[in-house]
Amino acid sequence: MVADILSQIAGLILFILPAYFANSTPVLLGGGLPIDLGRKFFDGERLFGDGKTMLGFFAGVSAGFFIGALEAYFIFPMGFVIYPDQFSFITGGFLLGLGTMTGDLLGSFLKRRMKVKRGRQSLLLDQLSFLIFALLFSLAASPAVLSFWGVLFLFVATYFVHAGANVVANKTGLKKVPW
Ligand code: CTP
Ligand code: MG
Repeated sequence: MVADILSQIAGLILFILPAYFANSTPVLLGGGLPIDLGRKFFDGERLFGDGKTMLGFFAGVSAGFFIGALEAYFIFPMGFVIYPDQFSFITGGFLLGLGTMTGDLLGSFLKRRMKVKRGRQSLLLDQLSFLIFALLFSLAASPAVLSFWGVLFLFVATYFVHAGANVVANKTGLKKVPW
């Protein structure tokens, strides 16, 4: 029973790992040209802002793909039944990466519409907008690998993982702010 739950949780963490890597890689590798090229929306605020760069987006999607490929190679043979076949790990990683970066971008779009400046905190949007789209996009690789409880677990766990990771990134000097 306990072993069963633990292995299910391990499966969920392995499933979402490409999204976590996609979300954190741009902090290290992002920069340069912003995706909105400095353009403003009708409300006079930036479309996405300087925190969303083309390089960061590309780095995030690549990280998801890379982690998916690593999992296909190392985790699938260990017998973790997350996807039905090895190839789905790779498409899953790519889709989680693409969904993560799309959700992150839309989160910033909403923050700008709510007049929240780039880099300022927005509770829930900062932690969860990427997860919603990561999960939606991943459906294309693998319809229904997650149960209702699996999705609920990921929302609660991701909130705390994201909050914790950002405090660490702040303390170690990677990020100026702890969110
Ligand atoms: N980043 C990037 N490109 C992206 C996403 C993130 O270059 N597409 C980098 C930026 O350096 C950004 C950092 O990762 O500052 C942290 O990301 P995030 O917290 O999502 O951005 P914020 O700067 O907080 O901007 P926003 O208020 O729009 O969320
Ligand atoms: Mg931020």
